Amino acid sequence: MAAAAEVRTNAYAPYSEFHVGAAVLAGDRVFTGVNMENASYPLGMCAERNAVGAAVAAGERRIDCIAVVTDAARPTPPCGGCRQVLWEFGPDSLVVSQTTSGERVAWALEDLIPDAFGPDSFGPDPHR
Ligand code: THU
Repeated sequence: MAAAAEVRTNAYAPYSEFHVGAAVLAGDRVFTGVNMENASYPLGMCAERNAVGAAVAAGERRIDCIAVVTDAARPTPPCGGCRQVLWEFGPDSLVVSQTTSGERVAWALEDLIPDAFGPDSFGPDPHR
């Protein structure tokens, strides 16, 4: 949570002005990310996915937990796209979201994305 709160100050969100910090725990290491918006709006990226990308780039393939910090009135749940990306690397992971005022909520990822499509959804056929 501390890493997510600290990195949040580097969020690049001049359009929404909604600053998000995320930190992923993977292999006992912490990887951080912030949301990174773009003048071409659809190209913006969420903090969660940038944190996952940092972990994957460092060679991690298994995510245990992700922390999210925003200044919203209530803890911010990860968007649907981020839930799917988290599922790829941490179907058993814990998602913890906290506001800058200290309100905290935690979910099991599997409760946020029930019946998810994932690496096991291709079936026994090895053509992938
Ligand atoms: N955003 C995140 O980074 N993570 C979330 O969980 C929700 C939304 C970002 C995307 C965009 O830059 C801004 O917050 C407003 O949607």
